[in-house]
Amino acid sequence: MSADLPGHTAQLLHQCQGLILDIGPGTGEVLSRFDASKITAIYGAEPTADLHEGLRKNAEKTGLGQKYHVLRCGGEPESLYPALHKAGVLNPEAAAATFDEICCIRVLCGVPEPAKTIRGLYALLKPGGRLVVCEHVVNPWKTEGRFVARALQWVYSVMGWPFFMGGCELQRDTEDYLRRGGVWKRVSLGYVEPETTIPFIVGELIKTDDY
Ligand SMILES: C[S@@+](CC[C@H](N)C(=O)[O-])C[C@H]1O[C@@H](n2cnc3c(N)ncnc32)[C@H](O)[C@@H]1O
Repeated sequence: MSADLPGHTAQLLHQCQGLILDIGPGTGEVLSRFDASKITAIYGAEPTADLHEGLRKNAEKTGLGQKYHVLRCGGEPESLYPALHKAGVLNPEAAAATFDEICCIRVLCGVPEPAKTIRGLYALLKPGGRLVVCEHVVNPWKTEGRFVARALQWVYSVMGWPFFMGGCELQRDTEDYLRRGGVWKRVSLGYVEPETTIPFIVGELIKTDDY
């Protein structure tokens, strides 16, 4: 992964403030995009322990050192919630809505149960909180995409893309999962390079104030 991000993802990350949950940060190549001065604390849910050393180093390098907390867990509730309880962020007796912002950058393509994972993340957002998203998705060939690119996604998948790419799904309709994942006050998502085999959706979803 690189710090180069599709569309306006870098601006969205630069705006992040308060208590942040970062799902699947890897070695933290994108941590330089956050503005450390706006952030109270970030919890990074990264299941691959081999990446933690690099993640901590990048957190130090970008001025997030003391504020960045590495959790060894996935984004799915049965893994994430206990890790957050153990870290003292979630009180099992209280409502889960804790985070000001949650970032999903190039990760939802590979989580095993996207609908359940997104519902679990939604519950962790404070009312009015923001989910920042940058994810590659199924090609939108019926609207702004291309049929050839959509067909290639199918071919690559049949040839074993998820197997060779650690569970990554090329044909996942992540926007649909996100829209159905909760009640949103505002959804602002747009395609980046929709004509390609790896089109991205980039943007933000703001949770309703009523939950
Ligand atoms: C493609 S990398 C993206 C890393 C980083 N977000 C970036 O954009 O540079 C995907 C990351 O998600 C992590 N991951 C895999 N399965 C996950 C899961 N179920 N929950 C959270 N993270 C997961 C991987 O270990 C990897 O670090």
